[in-house]
Amino acid sequence: MQSKIDQYTSEIQAFTAAKAEELEAFRIKFLGTKGIIKDLFEQFKTVSTEEKRSFGKVLNQFKQLAETRYNELKENFDAKPAAQQAGQDLTLPGDGFEVGSRHPLSLVRNEIIDIFKRLGFVVAEGPEIEDDWHNFSALNFPEEHPARDMQDTFFIRKGEGGDDIALRTHTSSVQVRMMENGKPPFRAIMPGRVYRNEAISARAHCFFHQIEGLYVDENVSFSDLKQTLYHFVQELYGEGTQVRFRPSYFPFTEPSAEMDISCTICKGAGCNMCKYSGWVEILGCGMVDPNVLENCGIDSKKYTGFAFGMGMERIANLKYVIRDLRLFSENDVRFLKQFQSEII
Ligand code: DAH
Repeated sequence: MQSKIDQYTSEIQAFTAAKAEELEAFRIKFLGTKGIIKDLFEQFKTVSTEEKRSFGKVLNQFKQLAETRYNELKENFDAKPAAQQAGQDLTLPGDGFEVGSRHPLSLVRNEIIDIFKRLGFVVAEGPEIEDDWHNFSALNFPEEHPARDMQDTFFIRKGEGGDDIALRTHTSSVQVRMMENGKPPFRAIMPGRVYRNEAISARAHCFFHQIEGLYVDENVSFSDLKQTLYHFVQELYGEGTQVRFRPSYFPFTEPSAEMDISCTICKGAGCNMCKYSGWVEILGCGMVDPNVLENCGIDSKKYTGFAFGMGMERIANLKYVIRDLRLFSENDVRFLKQFQSEII
């Protein structure tokens, strides 16, 4: 019996486990209910009384050795990563995995937000399902006035006397919500999706994205508008990009303008992106009409402001030379994968 114990002792001392199963096999072999130690204690009952004293000590020491070794190995083991516990080689190279990419519209939106944030603008959002007041009336579109036809509206509910509910046709509705719910000064940009009832083609879509801008304070002038938008264009498309303002009409601004930039593709030489004019229109803008300020509860004698609105798809087209609007919403991975990878 003593020689057996000696043999087991050296086996236990030499034992190491590379896998969880090996350690478990060790436990079953020595410490299990039908294990060696249990068996030795059974045999111990048959030993003569004289021997029992010295042999009992040996047996207890042996039991302790097996238990200590097991606990030691187990603690060590539990601290290891699961892959290593399962006996896998951690030095092998890992499996490659596809990294996602950001949608070009998100890239453009984030970049625009960054530029305006640095100028102290905050980001605001509003609902896509809008009522007549926020989308039209408060913005100075007269009832039954042809100006409402500028934008083909998807009506959800055609109500009586201006309580229509519709998908918003522009993000200018968020200006109204912002001014109604706060106090000047306002300095915000408002990105979001807008909807118009148009046939889908390479150049038109029934939904697209805009970013609205609003700046209201005392003594805001048209030169603040020009300087802000000029700075924005230099940041977005690079120093030296030219801008020009053309007089225009929007019900909610007076005076109103459209802003063109020198074509970012051909640098003004003429290409089919700028229809060989060297210029591309990127946004509408103007001084907030005093009627709009008053409609939103703002004193138009004390405050003035400017606003602007741009289509994000247009901005992205010019940045990435995308010629078909449908690509933005078709989720073709061959298209989407071409843009900057998500940083993880
Ligand atoms: N809401 C206009 C549109 O959808 C864009 C726009 C023009 C917004 C001039 C403005 C603005 O805030 O001042 O066509």
